[in-house]
Amino acid sequence: MLLHARGVSLGAMEFSSTETGKPFITTQGIDPPIAFNVSHDNGLVVMASSTNSNIGIDVMKVSLPGRDTFISFVEAMGDQLTAHERQLVASALNQAQALEHFFWMWTAKEAYTKALGIGLGFNFRRVEFDPVNNILLVDGMVPKGWRFSKFVVIQGDERYQGVVAESVGGEETSILPETGPHEWLVVQKASNFIRDAVQKFEC
Ligand SMILES: CC(C)(COP(=O)(O)OP(=O)(O)OC[C@H]1O[C@@H](n2cnc3c(N)ncnc32)[C@H](O)[C@@H]1OP(=O)(O)O)[C@@H](O)C(=O)NCCC(=O)NCCS
Repeated sequence: MLLHARGVSLGAMEFSSTETGKPFITTQGIDPPIAFNVSHDNGLVVMASSTNSNIGIDVMKVSLPGRDTFISFVEAMGDQLTAHERQLVASALNQAQALEHFFWMWTAKEAYTKALGIGLGFNFRRVEFDPVNNILLVDGMVPKGWRFSKFVVIQGDERYQGVVAESVGGEETSILPETGPHEWLVVQKASNFIRDAVQKFEC
């Protein structure tokens, strides 16, 4: 759809992926170039795109997977968190808040490492995200020139949390909260999206 909006015909749309599996557009002559990244969990697929910057996105349903109890879940995932992150999860007011904290941390780590194109090959403990104070550190320092955008998608009684990480350049790094105007976030039913795509490509 992004390429269609740039006037690229279906036959000219070409994609490849890096050695570590990150897909990218190889269609020639896209100016400015489009970077994109995809994430999916349960019933939700999300895509983020950007021009002239590396981008990564991750989304997860806020719930305990499978038959995990909260304790077993935190024990299983805890070694991917820093000491400060574990402390934030442990000091949450209740289990719901602890899960929210955890999924902000996890999706921020994944979005950042997916923007780098490395994914789980990057030691997640090198990335520390404090979702209470909205501070993200890599190797103990704020990385330069990044924008992290938190978002929430509610589908019925399911809550999904996610983060978009973009290397925008410059010295400043910002964390955009999940609250507030998110005109960049468009939520569509898959059936509507596919119907629109089919109609566009038939023309
Ligand atoms: C990328 C990765 C973190 C995805 O984890 P996940 O939470 O299970 O999945 P998500 O739904 O968030 O993202 C999946 C999407 O990320 C994209 N993706 C795949 N590899 C990626 C990478 N290295 N960087 C960024 N994005 C990647 C794909 O579009 C994929 O969608 P697909 O499964 O439909 O093809 C994980 O697969 C990973 O670490 N891959 C790298 C593996 C690696 O380093 N291999 C080296 C051996 S060659």
